Amino acid sequence: MSRRHRYLEPEQAARVYDRIGRWQDLGGFYEREAMGVMLDAAELGSARGVVEIGCGTGSLAASLLGDRLPAAATYLGLDVSPAMVERTRRAVEPFADRAEVRLVDGRSPWPIADHSVDRVLAVYVLDLYSPEATDAFFAEADRVLRPGRLIAVASLTHGARGVSRAVSAMWNGAWRIDPHVTGGCRPVDLEPHLPSTYRRRLDTVITTWGVSSRALVLQAPA
Ligand SMILES: C[S@@+](CC[C@H](N)C(=O)[O-])C[C@H]1O[C@@H](n2cnc3c(N)ncnc32)[C@H](O)[C@@H]1O
Repeated sequence: MSRRHRYLEPEQAARVYDRIGRWQDLGGFYEREAMGVMLDAAELGSARGVVEIGCGTGSLAASLLGDRLPAAATYLGLDVSPAMVERTRRAVEPFADRAEVRLVDGRSPWPIADHSVDRVLAVYVLDLYSPEATDAFFAEADRVLRPGRLIAVASLTHGARGVSRAVSAMWNGAWRIDPHVTGGCRPVDLEPHLPSTYRRRLDTVITTWGVSSRALVLQAPA
């Protein structure tokens, strides 16, 4: 398999998550802590419009709309997997007047007007992306964010030492053999892709059960 083809294309990712998506929330054991730290730093209580890329099962969407966002804030979830879009639509049914979920192709610009949202969230999604797709993610986030607003990301990252280093090496090894085995995810180094004009409000690595995650909150220039 060539280097290029280790990354799942959006169509392949859609098929994988159509198949395995129902078990996605089992990853919560290593995602929860990093996601919580990231959500706290994202100051969602002052957001008016939030977009989540790769909304998955919709469990985060429901908790944002139910607990973290102001009652008037809107939520837009985007995903390439029709099954995941259906799951998120069911999860946000109680908030139908201010929540929308759309199927995207993972290649086109997001269906969002320029400088129209306050937060762009991506939780364990960039670890599926190719380097080119990661650059495109940050360019799109920059296009849709209002000045001074926030990108909030949690993703797998490389463990620095000991058990976490061994776990991330094993994970990477499995991904290299067949990315389908890991749902297309592997530890990634986001550093070369981060927009240099953004201020880092949060940048931390949290290791849970040997799995290292990076939580980032980046603020757009005012
Ligand atoms: C590992 S799951 C994470 C789901 C959810 N954010 C969570 O933390 O439980 C990755 C999700 O991203 C979606 N996805 C993958 N590539 C995408 C893309 N290019 N655009 C939008 N969604 C994508 C998948 O269909 C899947 O729902």
